[in-house]
Amino acid sequence: MLFPYGTAGDAASDPGASMPLLEEEILTSWGLNAAVWTKAVRRGEILSRERVTNGAILEAIKEVAPHTLLDLGCGEGWLAHHCARQGIEVLGIDAVNELTAVAADGAPPGARFQTLSYQDIATGSLMERFDVVVANFSLLGNRSVDELFLALPKLLVPTGCVLVQTLHPMLICADHPYEDGWREGSWSGFSPSFRTPAPWYFRTLESWSRLFRRHDLEVREMREPLDPLSGQPASVIFRATTLNAT
Ligand SMILES: C[S@@+](CC[C@H](N)C(=O)[O-])C[C@H]1O[C@@H](n2cnc3c(N)ncnc32)[C@H](O)[C@@H]1O
Repeated sequence: MLFPYGTAGDAASDPGASMPLLEEEILTSWGLNAAVWTKAVRRGEILSRERVTNGAILEAIKEVAPHTLLDLGCGEGWLAHHCARQGIEVLGIDAVNELTAVAADGAPPGARFQTLSYQDIATGSLMERFDVVVANFSLLGNRSVDELFLALPKLLVPTGCVLVQTLHPMLICADHPYEDGWREGSWSGFSPSFRTPAPWYFRTLESWSRLFRRHDLEVREMREPLDPLSGQPASVIFRATTLNAT
């Protein structure tokens, strides 16, 4: 199985390291790797996605049958394109201009893209509301994600929901204690054209659930899509609504 971000490493877990700097490194890395990432996704090179996780998130979206969808950290836009082809009105946002440009190029009708960071959303740069807000392997930081979550309830219609797919915490904590913290990135398993891996913030399952709760979002369902080859969960998907949603 390919891990977009490996484990272990000292620099990223240094408690003295500057958090905003680590958040910046995430975006710098995605800017540098935008072209190779686009190729890898579009050629189906990330096998766990092809086998399990793409289908799992699309199924979770289909089940809630949204008319409108916000794709957070949309990357090169595969998910937004797919949903737009099913008749959903989609806005894909990503902080990396190269990625939103690629996503917009040749996008099907109904898919729009905007270059926006989570930090921009946190400060009110997006005033629309959606039936579904989805983040597919795109919540990588700490403070940026906290700030984004503060804004999330305001991005949902009253009956709307948030879907988050992320690497399963139980499977990726290998050489570290099972506790929240920054981890060093790795492009291990990817082509050598990938460079400058970004640090990422590890959260335990309990911490994910606290993150939702802290921002008035209730986790209604948690799925663990299994990889048939390994018999292990390839990811975890959370479905959450606002606390007062029906
Ligand atoms: C692993 S890629 C996933 C892309 C896409 N969701 C997919 O399923 O292929 C992570 C994406 O999150 C975006 N991202 C990470 N941090 C972000 C932030 N603070 N604001 C906006 N986008 C961010 C990156 O630019 C990158 O495109």
